[in-house]
Amino acid sequence: MRSSDIRSTFLGFFGERDHRVVPSSSLIPSDPTLLLANAGMNQFKPCFLGETVPEHPRAMSVQKCARTSDIENVGRTTRHATFFEMLGNFSFGDYFKAEAISWAWELFTRHYNLDRDRLWVTVYLDDDEAEQLWRGVGVPSERIQRLGMEDNYWSMGMPGPCGPSSELHYDRGPSFGRDGGPAVDGERYQELWNLVFMQNLRGEGTGKGDYPVVGTLPHRNIDTGLGLDRLAAILQDVETVCETDLLAPGFRLVQEMSGREYPGRDGGDTSTSIRIVAEHARSVAFLIADGVLPSRDGRGYVLRRLMRRTILHARRLGIDGPVLAALTGTVVGNLGEAWPELTRESELIRRVVTAEEDGFERTLRQGSRILETAIGRATSPLSGRTAFDLHDTYGFPIDLTLDAARSAGLTVDEDAFAALLDEQRRQAHRASRDRKGEAAARRDLYRRIGAEYGLTEFVGYETTTTETRLVALLDDTGTVQSAREGDQVEVILTRSPFYAEAGGQVGDTGTLRTSDGGVLQVVDTRRGLDGLHVHTVRVTEGEVRPGAEAEATVDADRRAATARSHSATHVLHAMLRRVLGDHAAQRGSRVEPGRLRFDFAHFSALGRAELDTVQTLVNDYLLDDPGVRVWEAGRAEAEAAGAVALFGEKYGDRVRIVDIGDASRELCGGTHVGHGSQAGPVHIVGESSIGTGLRRVEALTGADALRHHDHRRALLTELAALLDVHPDQAPDRLRRRLETLAQTRRELESLRRDRLDEHARRLAAAAEPVPGGWLVARVVDSPDDLRALATRVPAHRPGDGAVVLGAETGGRAL
Ligand code: SER
Repeated sequence: MRSSDIRSTFLGFFGERDHRVVPSSSLIPSDPTLLLANAGMNQFKPCFLGETVPEHPRAMSVQKCARTSDIENVGRTTRHATFFEMLGNFSFGDYFKAEAISWAWELFTRHYNLDRDRLWVTVYLDDDEAEQLWRGVGVPSERIQRLGMEDNYWSMGMPGPCGPSSELHYDRGPSFGRDGGPAVDGERYQELWNLVFMQNLRGEGTGKGDYPVVGTLPHRNIDTGLGLDRLAAILQDVETVCETDLLAPGFRLVQEMSGREYPGRDGGDTSTSIRIVAEHARSVAFLIADGVLPSRDGRGYVLRRLMRRTILHARRLGIDGPVLAALTGTVVGNLGEAWPELTRESELIRRVVTAEEDGFERTLRQGSRILETAIGRATSPLSGRTAFDLHDTYGFPIDLTLDAARSAGLTVDEDAFAALLDEQRRQAHRASRDRKGEAAARRDLYRRIGAEYGLTEFVGYETTTTETRLVALLDDTGTVQSAREGDQVEVILTRSPFYAEAGGQVGDTGTLRTSDGGVLQVVDTRRGLDGLHVHTVRVTEGEVRPGAEAEATVDADRRAATARSHSATHVLHAMLRRVLGDHAAQRGSRVEPGRLRFDFAHFSALGRAELDTVQTLVNDYLLDDPGVRVWEAGRAEAEAAGAVALFGEKYGDRVRIVDIGDASRELCGGTHVGHGSQAGPVHIVGESSIGTGLRRVEALTGADALRHHDHRRALLTELAALLDVHPDQAPDRLRRRLETLAQTRRELESLRRDRLDEHARRLAAAAEPVPGGWLVARVVDSPDDLRALATRVPAHRPGDGAVVLGAETGGRAL
């Protein structure tokens, strides 16, 4: 059965049982606590928790999943993968164990036609009910085993829904391992389908990975996960997931490129590397298609690591040239029909992998040179410090260092290497713990203030000035009872018109005047907690105490200049995507009065023409004076309305949406102009790379853009005055002047050559005959031309000879 038929059989089966198909979520989950989507249930977490009422109580999906926790097993076992498709059926407070079990059995034995005598079942320790139900459908009790938390209790590994589970396993036969059922051997008795009886809730625990069960969910639910690769391997009667039709084209290509046979003849290493290369290439393609880009941390690092492992294993197989583009190409070709995002993003995939592979090649070359030098000098063993520096500074993998040392007959001081690595980890951990400790203590303090006086009422969307009261003053040590002229402290207010830095927009500045004559300059505003604004102030007059009444006034000009930049940023984002494509999504921004910085995904430098196009589109759009509409909605409504949300940003259930005309709609908490044309001109002043696949555009807005133009105009006026023409004619005049200058240079040069030639001719004519030839020996008065002159003389005098010229310059002999 082909994998496309396995998918459609699953969906058909549950479709007939009133399940609605829900599309796979992106591998970048909307749940900010999760690095990558790793189970079909991820997107339904709010439904299980009772936070969201699902559209329909029964759902089914084919979910893209990425898991790298078992990466070491990939390629070594027949069944592990870093990417897989999970088929799942879900019930939200609707059917429960009985249906889930009997349907799973029916689908397996009657539709996928798996041999019922080879199916084994595991249930959670005390789940008698599940065992009864399995026996009811015909599973003999000797093929039902009970397992504990580790195997038969499923949770997300973090606070959230959880429950006991029951798994269906397939006996692949004695050539795969030992007798005794899944409790004994997971390779032979392969887990295929996990049925989770989702009914409990895990809580925060101590945060060290132990999340105790703290209660029950509002309903009893079903969450199942059936691994497509594994089922395909069995139905297609191949040994490993890499040989299924899901991975076969890449699997064959690796063998062709390397000229190695599968299985390899070296007892495992070759076969393992072939499988790893084919398997990882699929994950790489899917991750990039969903918007992950290689980087130094987070999901970008997962991707980078997968790419590097692929390249290293390809080299181990003897493939020297680039591999990733060709391999991910086979993934797109093979799976593009089932997963159209692969086809849509194929160009992006090709570019990202090519750039990353180039970069890694450079790393490897540089590392290899350093390593060769070190090996040349070393007596065994090679020092742990060298291995560590290569790893740490050059990103050069330790495996390669070990290989190279081995071929040179050296060992590596691996203990010293491990100790250095350990020490580095410990240091990083200590530093982050200290930082975290301080930050946590400060947050606790803010939390206590928030609990006592309430959060800040933010009125800055409507006004820039308001009456308020100081509830707390803080210095570095904690809360204080007063601050006087010259002090810098933090102030918490009951109500604040000051925007606190967020979403790239800088915090507001301004003034606080207390009713008893104190004056405080607000130099920055940030968020101590969500909803608690912390104002950094300098006391410039009087003395202030908590409890004082005050008038708060935002520096309105600065705020207006910031709003211009923020609205301009949204329009810039929309126009960049229009010109470059949808992949040019925002990756960061900095919105300041009069200027902005915008980071986005793109793979090559923007040419002047592209920048001009973007700039013109932005300015034309703003000049059309589009209305700016700010509205609120539920998350789902906002997404359905096409609002652009940023990866990694946290949004609550109610979100604020900013529309500028009909081309820009973003989730945003920032402050904006009322109408597009108020943003004024936008002038792009720079474009640069800030990392692989990331570009940055910097621009000036409003009055700053105008001032920039004024400055440029003054320069032009000055140039025109120097050229003595109207500015319009300046380029033409300058071009002609430069041409004349070049012509004059050429003439001068030719005159100089003529003069030198003439001089050389005269010297040659005056040569003295000497035994064996002729001799020119003279002091001349052109010190700069000595060499040119000397080399020209023989042209005017046939036969062998010698030229000796001297000159005097500044009292020295040449
Ligand atoms: N959530 C369970 C799993 O991932 C079943 O879908 O295995």
